[in-house]
Amino acid sequence: MSASTHANVVEGSAVYPLGSRVNDLGHLEVGGCDVIELSREFGTPAYIYAEDDLRARARAYLDAFRSHTDDFEVIYASKAAPITAIYRILREEGLSVDVASGGELAMALRASYDPGRIYLHGNNKTERELREAIDAGVGHVICDSLGEIERLDSLLDHRQDVLIRVTPGVLPSTHSYIQTGQIDSKFGFGLEDGLADAAIRAVLGSRNLRLVGLHAHIGSQIFELEPYATAIEALSELADPEWCRVLNVGGGLGIAYTAEDEPPSIASYVEVKVRGVQRVFERVPRILVEPGRSLVGNAGITAYTVGTVKEIPGVRTYLAVDGGMSDNLRPMLYGAPYDAIVADRAAEPPDVAATIAGMHCESGDILVRDAVLASPRPGDVLVTPATGAYGHAMANNYNGMPRPPVVICRGGDARLVVRRETYDDLMERDVD
Ligand code: LLP
Repeated sequence: MSASTHANVVEGSAVYPLGSRVNDLGHLEVGGCDVIELSREFGTPAYIYAEDDLRARARAYLDAFRSHTDDFEVIYASKAAPITAIYRILREEGLSVDVASGGELAMALRASYDPGRIYLHGNNKTERELREAIDAGVGHVICDSLGEIERLDSLLDHRQDVLIRVTPGVLPSTHSYIQTGQIDSKFGFGLEDGLADAAIRAVLGSRNLRLVGLHAHIGSQIFELEPYATAIEALSELADPEWCRVLNVGGGLGIAYTAEDEPPSIASYVEVKVRGVQRVFERVPRILVEPGRSLVGNAGITAYTVGTVKEIPGVRTYLAVDGGMSDNLRPMLYGAPYDAIVADRAAEPPDVAATIAGMHCESGDILVRDAVLASPRPGDVLVTPATGAYGHAMANNYNGMPRPPVVICRGGDARLVVRRETYDDLMERDVD
């Protein structure tokens, strides 16, 4: 492979952030910034996002909707990357926001989200979280259980718009941990078991809750589009035009983690959802989608430094980096695949097969199995692309690892939006 054809693995790739390229030094460049320079400035591991990518995907959702209807809302499922600066960017683009806890609510408010544009989710919202949402004046609460309907009603002294979360009995093909639409689920109210009917009656009979619609999220990292149409059909059987003004059809669009992945486009995903609703609803409600991963996943990469190379003759070569399951739990949790590149030699053809291990005390702490890399050696900056969703979000301090910083790049400028944790941070909550 020539250097220039290899450069195209990055340029125009569906895996790397939009606008990524290999610069004249042969280094990977993201958001106009040289990743080697960023690694020197901010250290590794580091999460690096391209701001233009985030904005472009938000616009892709909005434009896709606008080509079909003007009665819609795109809601950022902020669990994918609960980073104040990203809330701000997506707010600026005109997206609403979904928060799944009091903590995410606090971040959305800190990012100056209009409370009316906030949707509160959760299968076990605490009384405190419900109070925080009420005090903030969140626009919509998505009710997930009969107990919660009662609790929320009793805490309110004014009308609160709510949606009911339905599990429509649809099983998309994705990892079972991230399937959420089936009857046997901790989330929401089933259709077949009559719970959804009971929830509707409970809300309609409440003092302070105003039922405005239904919600369904059938799962995540989904490449098929048909299950959405099936779920929408199921919802239509439950919806009554008397109250159903809003239909939130969830998130779930899969992204390319590796060059082999070919997820549907945002435009075709939106089209299936909009047409699906228009086809089965006589009075078409406002259509809401709630994407997380497909807004932020490909916008972010993680940069590591290679520490050791261990060749086991006749077995395999392990390349260990200075992060791992503390900054990206997905490979361990879901067996999720990733691509990898040596950012120092991004234009060179990959020639060495190696398994990329983390630095944690677990044999399973493997980031990428059987990667092929350009002459990797200690000191190199190794990048895994497509870590913008659920990377930072699920980061942890295993083995006393300070969590990595978040850097956002645009037009060659890099700004630190979350600093690296320090050892002091690790001990800050100690009271003895
Ligand atoms: N709405 C609700 C109610 C959700 O539960 C989720 C994701 C979303 C929207 C956004 O889904 P997305 O567009 O990102 O697929 N940690 C897992 C993903 C868990 C998803 C949880 N809910 C992972 O790393 O793959």
